[in-house]
Formats: sequence, structure tokens, C-alpha cells
Amino acid sequence: QTKYYKLDPVKPDLSILAEAAELLRQGELVAFPTETVYGLGANGLDGQAVTGIFRAKGRPADNPLILHIADVEKLPEIAAVVPASAEALTERFWPGPLSVIVERRSHIPDIVTGGLTTVAVRLPASLIARELIRLAGVPIAAPSANTSGRPSPTTAEDVLADLGGKIAAVIDAGPCAIGVESSVVDCTGVVPALLRPGGVTYEMLLEVLGEIEVDPALAGSLAIPKSPGMKYTHYAPMAPMFLIEGELPAATGELIKREILAAQAGGQRVGAVVSVELAGSLPPATITAVYGSRADTKTIAAGLYTALRSFDDNPVDIIYAEGIEEQGLGLAVMNRLRKAAGYRIIRN
Ligand code: TXA
Ligand code: MG
Repeated sequence: QTKYYKLDPVKPDLSILAEAAELLRQGELVAFPTETVYGLGANGLDGQAVTGIFRAKGRPADNPLILHIADVEKLPEIAAVVPASAEALTERFWPGPLSVIVERRSHIPDIVTGGLTTVAVRLPASLIARELIRLAGVPIAAPSANTSGRPSPTTAEDVLADLGGKIAAVIDAGPCAIGVESSVVDCTGVVPALLRPGGVTYEMLLEVLGEIEVDPALAGSLAIPKSPGMKYTHYAPMAPMFLIEGELPAATGELIKREILAAQAGGQRVGAVVSVELAGSLPPATITAVYGSRADTKTIAAGLYTALRSFDDNPVDIIYAEGIEEQGLGLAVMNRLRKAAGYRIIRN
């Protein structure tokens, strides 16, 4: 039985948060909202508790977790070294959707870092997340609160659909504002490297750092990603998905309509994950999930995982997704769509 706590995101009941923090201190798993996605929290200094995260999610043990803190002063307690790049990034983007990879201190349990000598750290903007971490008094290890391989959860209902009965509690504070995970930046090298595009855009990171490498695997090539988590199929809806990447929105639209019509002619029940701009012109039999508006990429990031999950209780045989421009949050959106599609990509 998973306890369910409903909290006001701006004026949360602190006694409820204290109860949830006590569960964390006792080694239990508590799912909580952040501004990116819901996280599945455990005491990050308690190897036993962290093992529970891997069990509940069915997550491969070599995929390391992010430690969440509530105060920037805690970073040196986790990091053996805080490089100038991490200093600059955290000053500019914390609290917020950014995780930095730094050399770890030796008291961080191996299970947290997947045996690596480095560790990911994030200070979330979400008030509830920060209060919970502060009350727990320890860094909180928290991956996204989904079953491994499924789209990340952006609501408490999503969390319960995947992990209900497997975790001690979930805190519901409504939908997440950003909707895609944090950007992960490796700060251990001479030139910092973007390992996962996320809520802080490449353009924003470049502005602060002056120079940043991008893991070539992010561009959809077949190179092996540096971030262990990026090599797994991820974010996938129930039915096989194909990502349509046209030169321009109009070309993408034409291509996706052609594919949908062909699949429907073959008797398939077809789902589509598309912009509001394209939705109206799809063939009438299409089961359409609108992810947001191309006029504002923020809405697409915020609606992406809900759109992918909408086929859970409305099964289809095949899904076509509309690709977007890789600018701003578009880079994170396209990275998630390619992975959700298992790199089945149709280009014109
Ligand atoms: O927005 C987020 O980051 C959410 C919320 C809950 O904070 N958390 C999240 O955690 O997305 P997770 O576990 O789903 O993703 C963590 C990513 C994985 O791709 C993992 O491989 C990478 O960070 N990572 C963690 N530690 C690492 C390390 N030491 N070196 C390289 N990559 C690392
Ligand atoms: Mg995840």
C-alpha cells in the first residue's frame, strides 16, 4: 500500500512533508515532485535504501543516480573537488533543472554512482522538493519515478501507474512545470560536456561556459553515450513508435500524414504524437495525442510524456511522432523522442 499525500505546491503542509521526510530517514522510498519530473527518492547515504530504488524501478545497476540537495553549501560535502565550471553553472542555474557531474567523496555509496568515481548532483527549484530534502537532512538519491524504460512521470498518477504498491509514499503537487529531466553536464574534464540535454538549454549553458562539448550520441549517431543512462531504451510508450524528421514543419506534416494513411490502409490502429498545429489535419481515424504547440517549445516539453503515456489506456498498433527543431528545449525533446522511438527514424 503506497501512502498518498496531496500538497499545495506553493503553501505545502510542513507536517506532511516532515512525515514523508521521516519515511526517507527510515530507509523508505518516497516519490516527490520536482520542476522537471517526479523523482523516486531514497536516503542517498544509505546503500540499502538506494538498492530499493533499483528494485522498484527494475533499473540496471550500472546506471548511476543523481543526488539531490537543498543548499548549495552541501555540494562540497559530496564532491571531492568543485571545478570552476561547476561553480559557474551552479551559481547561474541552481536551484533549477541542471545536474553537474563531479568527482565524488568516498563516503558516497557505490550503488549511487554505479561504481563510478564521479557523482551527479542537483539542487531542484521545486519548493516541495527542497523542503523535503532539507527536512530529511541527507542528500536524496532520486531517479525519475517511472518503471525503467517507460516515459518519465510528470504527475502523481503517472507515478502510481508504474510504482503503486512498490513504494512507501507519493507526494502529489500537480503536474511538473518543465516536463523533461534536468540537463546533465560533466564538469570533470578540461572542457565541460553535455551528457543529457534537459531543462537548461545548450544555448544557456554555452553562454555561461564559453565552450561545451556535446556527447555525439545525442545527435542521434550510434556512438556509445558517456552517460550510462543514455544507452538504454527509454521513455518508450507501449506501442512501437516511429519519429518523423522532416526538413521543415510542413514537410514533416506531409510525411507523417502519408505514413499514417499507409498504416491505416494496412488495417492498423494508428496513434500520433503531434503539435496542435498539425493535429487538425491528420486523417480522421488517427488516435491523436497533442504534445503542445510549435509556437512555444516549452509547451511541447511540458506535454511530451503525458502524450506518450496517453496510449497506455488507449492501445494502438503503431505510433508516429512529429519531430521538431533542435533549438532551445527542442534538443531535449528530440533526444527523448529518438530514444522513445528506439531510433526508428523516418526522414525526408
Ligand atoms: O530532472 C531530473 O534529473 C530527474 C529529477 C527527479 O531530478 N532525475 C532524473 O534521474 O532524471 P535519472 O536517474 O532518471 O537520470 C539520471 C541521468 C542518467 O542518464 C544517468 O546515467 C546520469 O544521469 N548520471 C548519473 N550519474 C552519472 C555519472 N556519475 N556520470 C555520468 N552520468 C551520470
Ligand atoms: Mg529516468
